[in-house]
Amino acid sequence: MAHSTETAITPAPRTNENRSTTPGSAGFKDYISSGWAERAEVVPPAREQAGFAAARRARLSAMYPGQRLIVPAGRLKQRSNDTDYAFRAHSAFAHLTGWGSDAEPGAVLVLEPTADGHDATVYFRERAGRDSDEFYANSEIGEFWIGPRPSIAQVAGDLAVSVRGIADLAAVFAAVDTETLVLREADPALTDDVDEARLRFAAEKVLTTNAADSPFSLEINAEHEPDDHFARDLSELRLVKDSYEIAQMRLAVAATARGFEDVIRDLPRSSAHLRGERLVEGVFNTRARSDGNAVGYDTIAASGPHACILHWTRNDGAVVPGDLILIDAGVEVDSYYTADITRTLPVDGTFTEVQRRVYEAVREAADAAFAVAKPGAVFRDVHAAAMEVIARRTAEWGMLPVTAEEALLPDNGHHRRYMVHGTSHHLGLDVHDCAQARRDMYMDGVIEPGMVFTIEPGLYFQPDDLTVPLEYRGIGVRIEDDVLITADGPENLSAGIPRSAADVEAWIATLTA
Ligand code: GLY
Ligand code: MN
Repeated sequence: MAHSTETAITPAPRTNENRSTTPGSAGFKDYISSGWAERAEVVPPAREQAGFAAARRARLSAMYPGQRLIVPAGRLKQRSNDTDYAFRAHSAFAHLTGWGSDAEPGAVLVLEPTADGHDATVYFRERAGRDSDEFYANSEIGEFWIGPRPSIAQVAGDLAVSVRGIADLAAVFAAVDTETLVLREADPALTDDVDEARLRFAAEKVLTTNAADSPFSLEINAEHEPDDHFARDLSELRLVKDSYEIAQMRLAVAATARGFEDVIRDLPRSSAHLRGERLVEGVFNTRARSDGNAVGYDTIAASGPHACILHWTRNDGAVVPGDLILIDAGVEVDSYYTADITRTLPVDGTFTEVQRRVYEAVREAADAAFAVAKPGAVFRDVHAAAMEVIARRTAEWGMLPVTAEEALLPDNGHHRRYMVHGTSHHLGLDVHDCAQARRDMYMDGVIEPGMVFTIEPGLYFQPDDLTVPLEYRGIGVRIEDDVLITADGPENLSAGIPRSAADVEAWIATLTA
């Protein structure tokens, strides 16, 4: 078989041989392989989310009877030369296995079709023995370099799923047929191998069947449409959260609230620093780390006119008293669920009259969006409700060349100049969760209990926007909350973080007193 499991399994070598000092002498090799204490093989009980992951796999299984499904975790991604970004498993893999921040790079979930569903197996590179040279010589996977890896039995106990070593993945590749589906984006190298295996399968079929009648073709999957549908379905599977996911979202929001509090406490120091935005980012991230967490996306710390730049993550500006600072940040907990919250704060603790006017207009837009975010409503109606307020206020302030009603006509949209982004996105394992869901299920989808999404209207008046009266230029405001839909309506998960201008001022006064 042409397929080499090495391509799918072995990380690309990036070692600089010219500076390698790994000892290779026989004396060293003999000596280092012995003298190690027996390792206690403690198999943990199933983690809390294991049963939820099994239920998600069962839903997926029912959608794809008879088809082999491959969901890779993905691998380390190169940052520069021989350094990588911190590993982050693909969200679909985390969703279906319950393996989050402790997931192993290169792991793969395979759902093998059976007569009445699928058997799930996680393949991963298990712990190597001290009799191999891997543990001291391989800086990407060796225990001396990155710490111990779990054993097969430990992962099997922890995730409550069948687990095999990565070498056994060769048997899966040998069985790949044209009905096999792979989540393409998670691991491009492994996907290439799956494509190759499918072509090989198709070629064999073309050779062994009458060409004219053959249902097999070398063109099969050339557009990858079945895989794309699979990715879409994996995305849609996450639109409604289960009770474990909702509990994790609550933890992420609470941890994010603590980060915002620390940022406010530190505002006097940040506003005295030449690159105060960096300090704001650092303080938020320090709180995330101090609590044992991570952040779900790069923190946006955008002071003064930087607040008009929607995804300002360079964060190299000053934090100037008298200006507003927009902070868009979210803590990600171990299970990978993340919050996504924005507050816009007056650096010196008090909004000016015009800043307050803009801030309260954005809050009014958010409140209007909350009022329609109910089960049975359509997702895009949430955005429409916010836009009515944005159009009305910007018209009132003389910014629009037409009336608010005219601006809101489908062919117009003049008010969108000041808020080009959407009001809401789904939130969960990804900050922009379920991004591959069909429009019918997302923007035109019906809101259901268990959905979690943001409500985040804003107004951004660029410093050089000649349509904007001078007093508004350079002001950017966004207020972003995380919303859980319940049978009774929206629950603002981030309601504990002050929202109104008056409450924000009181919050800052208390924390900086
Ligand atoms: N938190 C950034 C965004 O929602 O795009
Ligand atoms: Mn957001």
